Amino acid sequence: MIFRQLFDHTSSTYSYLIASRQGGEALIIDPVLERVDRYIQLVRELDLKLVKAVDTHLHADHITGLGALRERTHCITVMGEQSGVDVVSMRVADGDRVDIEGVSLGVIYTPGHTDDSYSFTMADRVFTGDTLLIRGTGRTDFQNGDPRAQYESLFGRLLRLPDETFVYPAHDYKGDTVSTIGEERAFNPRLQVRSVDEYADLMNSLKLSDPKMMDVAVPANMRIGLAQETVARNGWALSATETRDLLGKPETLLIDLREGSERDKQGIIPNSLHLRYQDLRKNLQSGGLLHQLAAAKPAHLVFYCAFGERSAMAVQAAQDAGLEAARHIHGGLQAWKLANGPLTRQ
Ligand SMILES: [Fe+2]
Repeated sequence: MIFRQLFDHTSSTYSYLIASRQGGEALIIDPVLERVDRYIQLVRELDLKLVKAVDTHLHADHITGLGALRERTHCITVMGEQSGVDVVSMRVADGDRVDIEGVSLGVIYTPGHTDDSYSFTMADRVFTGDTLLIRGTGRTDFQNGDPRAQYESLFGRLLRLPDETFVYPAHDYKGDTVSTIGEERAFNPRLQVRSVDEYADLMNSLKLSDPKMMDVAVPANMRIGLAQETVARNGWALSATETRDLLGKPETLLIDLREGSERDKQGIIPNSLHLRYQDLRKNLQSGGLLHQLAAAKPAHLVFYCAFGERSAMAVQAAQDAGLEAARHIHGGLQAWKLANGPLTRQ
């Protein structure tokens, strides 16, 4: 396994680059905008292909690298379903998994620091975001933070992981890099409480000043979505309603770019072909499936995904490859549901 813990000095943020092998797919957790060049360099040096960028929560102390990484590597951006960001490519909920080739992260909803805080488990370790820090816990006094919810996330979820589980937090201000669940249970001063009330009193008495970057970082991090308007201006977008009217027409082919888990959970537009976004580029090459389909001259190859971000990138890539019939559903399945478009289960 390839595992790199990367540090941003300015915000004391840890980011994690993970892959199962050299030459394979990689994901990054909590990337920082100012460090994006470094991540991309490292990805290149290790001969990796960055396919997912994940934020544990909406950060208040630094601007996320999710948007920049998506623009430069066409990776899929991932956050929790509660997150207030305008668009991420994929949203996850408790019990879901974040998969790349050879690596599967478990998803645990751990609200409290913010209402969109998630932790991610992988084999012998857990990425705790700002829910559990080394000898500390994330503050709960802004962004819908809630000490009682955090108590439950800590005691009801994270501390139930095996004692030997390595703890990799999103920040450290003292120079620690890694801990374990057992060590934190024993020595983390915030965890030496006897009740939820005691924990809430402790957190409510901290009286911390706002993070320096908060007024800049939070609004910036809310707007990381790919502007689908650019694709629309080129005439490559269809509204959900327009797509619904094309449904069943032989000259239209719908292509679902989502992952199997999303299809199972959210349903499928009837008669659509499944082709994961990760496999798009090889299918766009000559001899690839999309090339062959385009040669059959359909009026429209209509890509769709969860929110329209992956499909907007797919349209651009397809147009670049000369597939002029490529369109996508603006707003994705979310817009489709709002337009009462029919859905089926496999
Ligand atoms: Fe945070």
